[in-house]
Amino acid sequence: MLEQRTLSIIKPDATSRNLVGAINSRFEQAGLRIIAQKRLQLTKSQAEKFYEVHRGKAFYNSLCEYMASAPIVVQVLCGEDAVAENRKIMGSTNPANAEVGTIRRDFGQSIEHNSVHGSDSLENAEIEISFFFSQLEIVE
Ligand code: CMP
Repeated sequence: MLEQRTLSIIKPDATSRNLVGAINSRFEQAGLRIIAQKRLQLTKSQAEKFYEVHRGKAFYNSLCEYMASAPIVVQVLCGEDAVAENRKIMGSTNPANAEVGTIRRDFGQSIEHNSVHGSDSLENAEIEISFFFSQLEIVE
């Protein structure tokens, strides 16, 4: 299996509860490497752009307001089969349906406040990584 890169976001509910280190250790324990990372706060219009694919859905406006409500940590994770591996570590979108031991089950508060985002395909990973990072900021 080839090495892949995927975009991860530690969301406002997790940064505000001081869970960045706890979440990062889940990635590292699973063998994913954090090869870029920064903390920032999105404006609502930046959040709308990032989640453009969900525009029109019932949860879109609330999601974008929430994502702009407090700092987030954006990161590039690297490793074998990283896109799928990260999705396994995160668990289902709704923490109530996520398997025990996943980030969303252990830390998520609701389907919106679900602690982490991860790219859903290799193609989207490239698009999402370039939304937040320049090549210079990604160090293998
Ligand atoms: P994420 O993986 O970041 O992708 C879109 C986000 O929308 C999702 O995680 C949730 O935080 C949020 N969301 C809120 N309501 C829903 C819903 N009903 N279905 C899917 N995602 C939702």
